[in-house]
Amino acid sequence: MTPPIGRSCPWLAPLAGFSDLPFRLLCREYGAAVCVTEMVSAKGLVYSSPGTLELIVTTSEDHPLVVQLFGAETLFLVKALVMLRDMGFVWFDLNMGCSVHKVLRQGAGAAMLNDTNKSLDAARAMIAVAGADKLGFKLRFCPDEARAPFIKLKEFALRLQDLGAGWLTLHPRTAKQAFGGQVNRDALQELAECLHIPLMASGDLMNALEGIRCLDETRADGLMYARGALRYPAIFADHLRVCRKEAIAAPDADFLRALVLRHIVLARSLTQGKSYLWKMRTVIPRYVRGLPGARALRDRICRSTEWIELEEALDFF
Ligand SMILES: Cc1cc2nc3c(=O)[nH]c(=O)nc-3n(C[C@H](O)[C@H](O)[C@H](O)COP(=O)(O)O)c2cc1C
Repeated sequence: MTPPIGRSCPWLAPLAGFSDLPFRLLCREYGAAVCVTEMVSAKGLVYSSPGTLELIVTTSEDHPLVVQLFGAETLFLVKALVMLRDMGFVWFDLNMGCSVHKVLRQGAGAAMLNDTNKSLDAARAMIAVAGADKLGFKLRFCPDEARAPFIKLKEFALRLQDLGAGWLTLHPRTAKQAFGGQVNRDALQELAECLHIPLMASGDLMNALEGIRCLDETRADGLMYARGALRYPAIFADHLRVCRKEAIAAPDADFLRALVLRHIVLARSLTQGKSYLWKMRTVIPRYVRGLPGARALRDRICRSTEWIELEEALDFF
């Protein structure tokens, strides 16, 4: 069985540096149906590189969870998958869309689309380990396809489907485009029409209305929120409200204060040391951006070196 996929099952997208355990639990409390971990290096996992195991720390409430792997070599991808499966993880995703130079340089992420035959071999071996319906693939367009019809990607996607992929996700841009230019929703629609496995939409889903519009326009089976969730984790609650045809409203300061405090409580109870405190210095300003007093709050937060100072700064806000 795949993880839950559907119009009323919004996912939290993989977000390197951000879709960590406290953030995933926060998003789940607002209604995220499925969360994807930050991308985990297959080689890093096999060699127990510092920090890699931290990326897959989870709890029983953190379910259903998809662990995202990245890597270029089939051997490491398969070994990492075996390790994860033996640890009890059930669902997995292979990152074939990352456009970050450090990842592309290794032949991983979107660089996997440069050699589709090699990538299909990796996919075949991984599916054999993960089992039917347990492994998804997150794709972008193949290089230089933005202007041409996306023939190569479509062909590749159909081959992944034939191999037994559980679902596919498409962020319809090339790696070169990164986050620039327009997402190509027509391509999502065309791919959704020719697949019989579920297709997840990604790309420029900054609020729930945009998310539902994307589902309506493309007939994709589901979607994942990325930057929209980073900006506003309650986007999942909005999404569910829009599904129920209920009105949504912009959050007020009290609502955002409660949201930030909840993120702090989760972070304090699930992490150790101060590294998450430093992360919150970048996270909180995103949540309150545009509200009166946001700039003063950001200045205070950037000076905070203790959790209690963060909380006091919010009282002031
Ligand atoms: C900070 C950040 C980190 C990301 N990390 C990953 C990642 O680890 N794996 C991945 O497949 N995509 C990653 N992405 C891409 C997102 O999952 C998503 O596909 C992309 O942001 C498009 O969606 P959006 O326009 O709604 O944000 C990341 C995006 C951002 C902004």
